[in-house]
Amino acid sequence: MANGILKGKTGIIFGALNDKSIAWQVALKAHAEGARFVLTNAPIAMRMGEINNLAAACGNAKIVPCDVSKNEDMENLVNQSLEILGGKIDFVLHSVGMSLNIRKGKDYTNLDYKFMHDTLDISSISFHRLMQTLWNKDAMKDWGSIVALTYIGAQRVFPDYHEMGDAKSLLESYARSFGYRFGKDKKVRVNTISQSPTMTTAGSGVKGFGDFYDYAEALSPLGNASADECADYCISLFSDYTRKVTMQNLFHDGGFSFTGFSYDVFKLLDKKAE
Ligand SMILES: NC(=O)c1ccc[n+]([C@@H]2O[C@H](COP(=O)([O-])OP(=O)(O)OC[C@H]3O[C@@H](n4cnc5c(N)ncnc54)[C@H](O)[C@@H]3O)[C@@H](O)[C@H]2O)c1
Repeated sequence: MANGILKGKTGIIFGALNDKSIAWQVALKAHAEGARFVLTNAPIAMRMGEINNLAAACGNAKIVPCDVSKNEDMENLVNQSLEILGGKIDFVLHSVGMSLNIRKGKDYTNLDYKFMHDTLDISSISFHRLMQTLWNKDAMKDWGSIVALTYIGAQRVFPDYHEMGDAKSLLESYARSFGYRFGKDKKVRVNTISQSPTMTTAGSGVKGFGDFYDYAEALSPLGNASADECADYCISLFSDYTRKVTMQNLFHDGGFSFTGFSYDVFKLLDKKAE
């Protein structure tokens, strides 16, 4: 679509692993809305080569590998993106998360601290690293937009989400702290989107995810938001229609975060008990 709401805009999209990924849907929609962008993921995640199919569907977008826990990879990604896209960029999506303790089945009361360091580095500090790199290279255009994905486990306890809740709290805090500086000095907005449980590789890695998903679906008046719907919201935040929205954690969850009670939850529990 030549006249989409992102016409002429350029960006970087992290985290498209396969067609279930939220970032995958964002890339397809950003392309349809007229944007040009660089796709990136960890080198190890590119082994399956699925990202090549996405790049082909997005006007042969360039792919630049980046392990978000490595400063040199982040530097290289931003340098190359500036070159490929022909100058400063308008939007960035950080759609990255990983918990080694969850992966290894460690309980919250028995965490491995080396794993925890890696979880925080990949899932949270990477967002600061990204913004610091963009800042130092003066890589963002005025009125640009930076978005990261998060989960309500940052505010409320979901026991099986354990250390990721802490990681997401830090991520959301970086959006406020860097968002202030980016707003003041560069007129760039920074927000996090707090998304419903979504059937993706990262999502399904959390124990009891299916129950989480069903509970949220039953409690939310509008039902869970899909990856596709999340992508629509991301596009609106990259567009010029949201230029004064910044430093926010924005719930995109069908109303889950502000609902205290729903009979549908009781019906669900009865069904599960059968
Ligand atoms: N799926 C859910 O239920 C849900 C809900 C709320 C928020 N989120 C968040 O959405 C974001 C995207 O996750 P998703 O659900 O699309 O799952 P996904 O598994 O498709 O995406 C996670 C991505 O993180 C990438 N990644 C992991 N380690 C990396 C590293 N070292 N360097 C670079 N990239 C790395 C993976 O390769 C993958 O592409 C994450 O931040 C996740 O926490 C997901």
